[in-house]
Amino acid sequence: MPASAKRVLITGAAGQIGYALCPMVAAGRMLGPDQPVILHLLDIAPAAAALEGVKMELLDAAFPLLQGIVTSTDPAEACSGVDVAVMVGGFPRKAGMERKDVMGKNVSIYAAQARALEANASKDVKVLVVANPANTNALMLAEHAPSIPPENITAMTRLDHNRALAQVAERAGVPVTKVKNVIIWGNHSSTQYPDVSHGTVDGKPIREALKGSEGWLAEEFVPTVQQRGAAIIKARGLSSAMSAASSACDHVRNWLLGTAPGTWVSMGVLSDGSYGQPKGLVYSFPCTCKAGEWSIVQGLEIDAVSAEKMRATAEELAEERELALECIKEAAA
Ligand code: NAD
Ligand code: LMR
Repeated sequence: MPASAKRVLITGAAGQIGYALCPMVAAGRMLGPDQPVILHLLDIAPAAAALEGVKMELLDAAFPLLQGIVTSTDPAEACSGVDVAVMVGGFPRKAGMERKDVMGKNVSIYAAQARALEANASKDVKVLVVANPANTNALMLAEHAPSIPPENITAMTRLDHNRALAQVAERAGVPVTKVKNVIIWGNHSSTQYPDVSHGTVDGKPIREALKGSEGWLAEEFVPTVQQRGAAIIKARGLSSAMSAASSACDHVRNWLLGTAPGTWVSMGVLSDGSYGQPKGLVYSFPCTCKAGEWSIVQGLEIDAVSAEKMRATAEELAEERELALECIKEAAA
């Protein structure tokens, strides 16, 4: 019997990532090749005409799995009955804006949309926050939607994870599928810690497979992955969109359908204190997934250099949380 359609919300659907993500979801890259979908596309009123254009193109592409398209500028309507919510909508930082100005705007968006999700989405909705600051937006969403189980709210660091896999594969001269188990620890920002200590190339530890490249691993690999978003903005004049959309599909697909045996992926999830990282932050950890549930991989050995980098990115997340809470207090005053 054919599966019944799942409803997937994409916020900011008229934006760059939305435009790349909609066809990927409609083609089965997110929920699998046999899973029909109904897309719920949300954007703000000034983008309503562009949103209708996206809908027209989705119809014209005649995707076999696409069973319906809801477009809306009303969060309550867009969230109605959704099984998966990919939160891409928000304000990017513009020239002359302080970090706090962006944080203030996005925190208010995430607080409002948290309530819309809570009131209207499926009770088991799985939420992926992509919009920056992704980890802290996810945390604020969780705080404003207390009836959504906190484990159902995650932030995207899969793009960083994929970037790390690709860098190692290029260096080793192998297809990216041969590289496994890199880790992104912490924030989706330049303080993230891309860690190869437990990764493999064709089953061999990365450090062994890249013997002779110790200098590259120590001095080039980490900053390249940390700064890749900025490098793409510099090259394109726009932030990453196709790779972000593809990584959002990877994140949700692994979460719902599972990770391959012996492998893990990086996900921003609510810290339970694993590896000494503070509880109550949305922090990126190595995770395995099975049937819609993720678990943090336990028992990995952490050396002193790694521990310091993991602490530094947690410190930035703690500062972001304070800033976000301040913004919420100011907005309520
Ligand atoms: P964009 O500006 O092209 O699109 C954002 C869309 O959000 C626009 O269509 C805008 O109208 C819409 N929007 C604004 N406020 C909204 C609201 N309240 N409700 C619904 N929609 C709203 O930006 P983009 O390039 O698509 O990037 C989107 C976000 O993703 C940015 O915050 C960007 O920094 C972030 N990003 C994250 C990652 C990651 O790996 N986590 C990677 C790339 C980009
Ligand atoms: C990325 O990693 O490509 C983006 O988060 C960069 C950005 O600041 O939008």
